[in-house]
Amino acid sequence: MEEVFLTTAELAKRHLRESDYVADTEAFIDCRLPGSMPKENFSMIGPGVTQSDKQVVNLREPHGFNIGAAGVHPGITNNLHLHFTSETFIAASGAYTLRWGVKGDEGSLPLETGDIAVMPTWMFRGFSSASDEYGFLMTVLGGDDTGGILWSPDVLKRARETGLWLTKDNRLVDTAIDGTPPENESLMPLLSEVDMQSIKRWSAEEIRRRVLKLSERKFCAATLDTACGFQWKLAPAVGFGITQARAHWPIVGEPQGFSIEWATVAPGQSSAAFRTVEKMVIINVFGTLRVRLNRGDQQIECTLAPREILSIPANVWRAFSVDHESAAVAEFLLVLPGDSRKRIEWEDGLVAKALQADAALDADGRIARYSLLPPPMLCA
Ligand SMILES: [Fe+2]
Repeated sequence: MEEVFLTTAELAKRHLRESDYVADTEAFIDCRLPGSMPKENFSMIGPGVTQSDKQVVNLREPHGFNIGAAGVHPGITNNLHLHFTSETFIAASGAYTLRWGVKGDEGSLPLETGDIAVMPTWMFRGFSSASDEYGFLMTVLGGDDTGGILWSPDVLKRARETGLWLTKDNRLVDTAIDGTPPENESLMPLLSEVDMQSIKRWSAEEIRRRVLKLSERKFCAATLDTACGFQWKLAPAVGFGITQARAHWPIVGEPQGFSIEWATVAPGQSSAAFRTVEKMVIINVFGTLRVRLNRGDQQIECTLAPREILSIPANVWRAFSVDHESAAVAEFLLVLPGDSRKRIEWEDGLVAKALQADAALDADGRIARYSLLPPPMLCA
């Protein structure tokens, strides 16, 4: 495999800190509706579904998914809209009430800090702050091109009364309240009654099964290096990621176009160095995570605080650790593109060391006791 090194300059561009995130308060058509001011939208990796040409995008490079966030002040509501690709909410901080349905009354569920919710495509959804503190609700959206969003007709009509119009090419036009409306042909059409009736209804039980609460994560030593003394753990959330544990399944079976796994490293512990052929994005949620990149005399490192993001290019060596003197366990998310399982290449000597500890991967890439495994079944 090609050896790829990350330079210090490139690392600085790919390590996104909260101070790099730029809120756009006029990113969407509903930004002037009562209860939606100010509504902050962030685009960290890819543009997401913003409708503002002023939106700052921290990292435009395609990753196979987009990562953004809503900054949610107390009392603020995000209005009903639908997505064409996966929208997965990550409550990085704060508490929210999710609601859904053509009129927003088919069901609702609470979402608290650390919870993850995989929203179905073609379903109107919105959310409101359920906290008296500012919250940061991050989103992973499927695909490089998300296709944008469709608004509920009610939202579009009410937005027009505030002087905001949405064109067919997904641009916001501001005519001011008493201005002349744009030509009807240039506007995004409203969904008809027939369109609305074709949208599947979802029960609260169905959506609840697409939510991974913080307390429901199933962590285990899930990678081969843990047989060699490295102590870190993974818990699956969305799609098929890097886990090598036999009992790890995602909460939602249908393809989302990406995988998300929780990872945790305790103070004084680390993973072995490894690399993947896919890009990998780390979203740190709790604690302080140290990431070592490259190998040999080219090693560099960075430290991620909560809500910071690091994009690691394909084929770059990386290892995770938490400083001994750190007070908290680091809990972070690994996001990789693609619907199939991702393979890990381990640092030199690790696989042989695992064999000495009677651990190996079975033919499907799952951790097993080496002495149980038959020899390879290869054709002559
Ligand atoms: Fe959305």
